[in-house]
Amino acid sequence: MSQQTSEEALITPLFSSETIQERVEEMGREIAKEYRVATRNSPLAVVAVLKGAFMFAADLLRAISLPCTIDFISASSYGSEKTSSGKLTLRHTLSLADRHVLLVEDIIDTGLTMQVLTREVMEMKPASLKICTLLDKPHARKHPVEIAYTGFMVPDTFIVGYGTDYNERYRELPAIGVLRS
Ligand code: IMP
Ligand code: MG
Repeated sequence: MSQQTSEEALITPLFSSETIQERVEEMGREIAKEYRVATRNSPLAVVAVLKGAFMFAADLLRAISLPCTIDFISASSYGSEKTSSGKLTLRHTLSLADRHVLLVEDIIDTGLTMQVLTREVMEMKPASLKICTLLDKPHARKHPVEIAYTGFMVPDTFIVGYGTDYNERYRELPAIGVLRS
């Protein structure tokens, strides 16, 4: 990782900034290809999950060469660390009726967040809904989710950087790594 801090010794590099950019551009091209016809009348509604997906969404949007709108939904579990309590607080001002929606997430772990968000968005009666995640931890899944676009598969470890955090730290890092316990 490019920033040199003593804390960085705690992070094992996984994906470099260049590797991430290449993959995000590939994903953008694939998404643009699939939504070209669907978005002829109305722009693709990209909905990014705060805070983790902010950086990925910003890069992804620039890689999708189609008319898009961007909105944000905040989903936080109680406490400073992720818990499996199953309690999520959602905050948003979305209205997505008849829109083609792409939910953009940083990382899918147990699947709970995406399951709750999918339900929330479906209640708004979108024209379609697909999920796009930069990272997928398939071995941690407890709640099944259908993912349309995945950047990288990651092992069941704790990931930080490029938007993802540990207690609000490391989001600013341009690369992705594994936080050693
Ligand atoms: P899920 O609800 O268990 O799928 O967890 C998804 C959310 O937990 C993501 O939006 C992340 O914010 C957070 N999360 C899960 N795993 C990690 C990780 O390894 N690093 C950082 N955040 C994570
Ligand atoms: Mg998140």
